[in-house]
Amino acid sequence: MATTKARENETPLADALQGQATVRPHDNQATQKVYIESYGCQMNFSDSEIVASILAEDGYGTTRNAEEADLVLLNTCSIRDKAEQTVRKRLKTFHRIKENQPELKIGVLGCMAERLKDKLLDEEKLVDLVVGPDAYRDLPHLVKEVDAGRKAVNTLLSKEETYAEVSPVRLGTNGVSAFVSITRGCDNMCTFCVVPFTRGRERSRNPETIIEEARQLRDHGYKEITLLGQNVDSYLWYGGGLKKDFERASEAAQASAVNFAGLLHKVARAVPEMRIRFSTSNPQDMTDDVLHAIAAHPNVCKYIHLPVQSGSSRILEAMNRGHTREEYLALIDRVRKIIPDCGISHDMIAGFPTETEQDHQLTLSLMDYVRYDFGYMFYYSERPNTYAARKLEDDIPLEVKKRRLTEIIDRQQAHSLERNEAHLGQTETVLIEGNSKKSDQEWMGRNTQNTVVVFPKTGAEQPGDFVNVKINKCTAATLLGERC
Ligand code: SAH
Ligand code: F3S
Repeated sequence: MATTKARENETPLADALQGQATVRPHDNQATQKVYIESYGCQMNFSDSEIVASILAEDGYGTTRNAEEADLVLLNTCSIRDKAEQTVRKRLKTFHRIKENQPELKIGVLGCMAERLKDKLLDEEKLVDLVVGPDAYRDLPHLVKEVDAGRKAVNTLLSKEETYAEVSPVRLGTNGVSAFVSITRGCDNMCTFCVVPFTRGRERSRNPETIIEEARQLRDHGYKEITLLGQNVDSYLWYGGGLKKDFERASEAAQASAVNFAGLLHKVARAVPEMRIRFSTSNPQDMTDDVLHAIAAHPNVCKYIHLPVQSGSSRILEAMNRGHTREEYLALIDRVRKIIPDCGISHDMIAGFPTETEQDHQLTLSLMDYVRYDFGYMFYYSERPNTYAARKLEDDIPLEVKKRRLTEIIDRQQAHSLERNEAHLGQTETVLIEGNSKKSDQEWMGRNTQNTVVVFPKTGAEQPGDFVNVKINKCTAATLLGERC
């Protein structure tokens, strides 16, 4: 992953995955072709694989080439205004193509679909179908509605939907690592965040289906899985249903519930030869049991993405993050104690309403304390309907937001370099993912802390291999070394 680069609407995987597709047996008999483009968080990329699977059952093969598609789907992100603008531009491009190709169907999936509902269809007339994150099973029916000239919108959010048994069609895969969804939705209601509105209430997926998917991936040669959720630490399986209804479940269901620490143990034991990662952790829900589970299993990667958003307790409260600066730092201390050598990354927001220079300095000093390996940094973007949009004035001028963001990025850059320098001279186990970006004479992989490692090929290794690499150089973003 990119280190100090501000992540706008794309994950670093975005470029690699745009519209890519794997072929599966269905494709030979496929009568129609779907082209899917994904934006935003890893969950969207994972959802696109579920969508591809649902459509494959209906005779749709996937294509990497938009020009040969009968159906174009954009799986969209609403997290910041800029993310939505990027998607709008892309929709307009497809809309122009449709003018010469009227039979082409264009659909919007994901968070923008959920947020804007039929507005994209009725007012802006940009698309033919609009499908929210919990309605993907309805896609085959909705596509037929479009064919019949009817309006095709389904943005119903669900209490149960986890697509538990849908076997994803792996898109744009490197054949080495894959995402496995474990929760959907989020109950946290951070005041800046649109996710609880676009992805609904939190629910967890049956652990048996998670383990089954992990085993299938292993059997297909994958070496690494990333367990995905908006807040994985909040995972709680008690037989189905929303997290918020747990207290009302039967005693027996409560007694046999599986939490995130329990899930990590189960998955780590089920596929001991695979690396296990997870994202995203939330400081208010991350328990010491989770930290001990990470420490206990050699195959669980020593890396935690632990967004903090601000170093000021006053701002954290205004964001409804559920913890103070001190509590966060105490958690960091426990991580360092229980999992020595753990990689830690963050998300940070500059310029939340009312943020003073003093609050900003607290953010920088928190970063100095933690010394994150990398981070994803943004300036605040007001999102319609969120608590912050309704109740707080977006009062920090754009130049100030940008200046603070630059200071945060510069600080992270320095810390990333310092953290990487600490690896010099060490020998690390690297899982090879593929060619390095710069040269096909070099491999690119990651160490357990999720830092990118690049080293020359020797001819005796291939993607998916675990190899030992001695680190002899680094930049803020990358470790460089040689096999040993
Ligand atoms: N729990 C989620 C967080 C989703 S949003 C996850 O799985 O990653 C990812 C990040 O975007 C947040 O952590 C936050 O730093 C940033 N973000 C969310 N809403 C934002 C907003 N309104 N303005 C700027 N950044 C925002
Ligand atoms: Fe958003 Fe906070 Fe959930 S950032 S996804 S409401 S944990």
